Amino acid sequence: MPLTVEQARLVTHSYAQISIFPHSYSELFYHRLLLNHPFARALFPDDMTHQIFVFSKTIDVLVENVADLPRLRPTLIDLAKKHVKYGVRAYQYAAVGTTLIDTFSEILGEDFTLEARQAWELVYTETAGVMISAAYPES
Ligand code: HEM
Repeated sequence: MPLTVEQARLVTHSYAQISIFPHSYSELFYHRLLLNHPFARALFPDDMTHQIFVFSKTIDVLVENVADLPRLRPTLIDLAKKHVKYGVRAYQYAAVGTTLIDTFSEILGEDFTLEARQAWELVYTETAGVMISAAYPES
């Protein structure tokens, strides 16, 4: 289901606010992920510097293309296939999505409105949906 124009605007606006936050949201996100989901520790390297950077670059691309997410399908399919090789399982996508959105909520507080949260949930559901169906066709 594509985002409405208003949802795309909410995603762009909230991400601009998140990106001027002095602390890297991506670092906070991985901190939360590893704390709350011990399965993730074994998958990632000890030094997360590169991962923190590349993850936020991918979210940048999602936001830049939020008005036309289907355009990213080929990129997301490639990324999903790499994730299979990293040992990632389909069910783990849910934990990543809730952790990302909870991190945004922690940073923005009351500015992260219900509508903004729902718009981000849709971005993540669409993204993870493409990745999961490409990489785990049996699921
Ligand atoms: C929309 C969801 C996700 C995005 C945007 C994303 C993004 C990325 C990116 C950009 C990379 C680097 C890929 C490369 O090597 O070129 C990566 C690697 C990786 N991701 Fe994800 N990822 C997502 C979901 C997940 C999930 C659900 C897990 C499971 C915990 C996960 C675990 C990993 C691991 C283990 C690596 C490799 C780390 C390493 O060995 O360097 N990712 N991810």
